[in-house]
Amino acid sequence: MATERTFAIIKPDAVGRNLQGEILARIIKAGFKIIAIKSMRLTKEEASGFYAVHRDRPFFGELTDFMSSGKIFAMVLEADGAISKWRETMGATDPKRASPGTIRRDLGSSIQMNCTHGSDAPETAAFEMSYFFSGLELI
Ligand code: RTP
Ligand code: MG
Repeated sequence: MATERTFAIIKPDAVGRNLQGEILARIIKAGFKIIAIKSMRLTKEEASGFYAVHRDRPFFGELTDFMSSGKIFAMVLEADGAISKWRETMGATDPKRASPGTIRRDLGSSIQMNCTHGSDAPETAAFEMSYFFSGLELI
């Protein structure tokens, strides 16, 4: 499998519960290299731009309120097959349906408050990385 990059977020629920250290430890243990990382708080407008693909979903308002409710950690992760590998490390969207040992199963509290985000395809990974990081930050 080729070396690939994906975009990840530690969401406000996890940062609010001080779980960022636990989640970063899992990221390193899973074999990812952290290429870039920053903590920030999104505005509602910035969260809406990020999740624009979901703008017609019934949970869009709630989701963007949640994603702008507190600090996040935004990251670019690198590994062989990073996009699918990070989705596997996170587990299914709903923590109740996620496999044991995954971040969402072990640490998530609801389908919304599921601790982490991960890109779902090469095109979304490219958009999401460039939404948060400049080219210079990704060398
Ligand atoms: P993400 O984009 O955050 O990595 O999550 P995902 O691909 O596993 O799930 P997606 O369908 O893209 O949904 C994005 C985020 O919206 C929230 N959500 N709420 N209330 C609901 O039914 C609902 N469904 C999804 C979650 O925070 C989910 O991660
Ligand atoms: Mg998604």
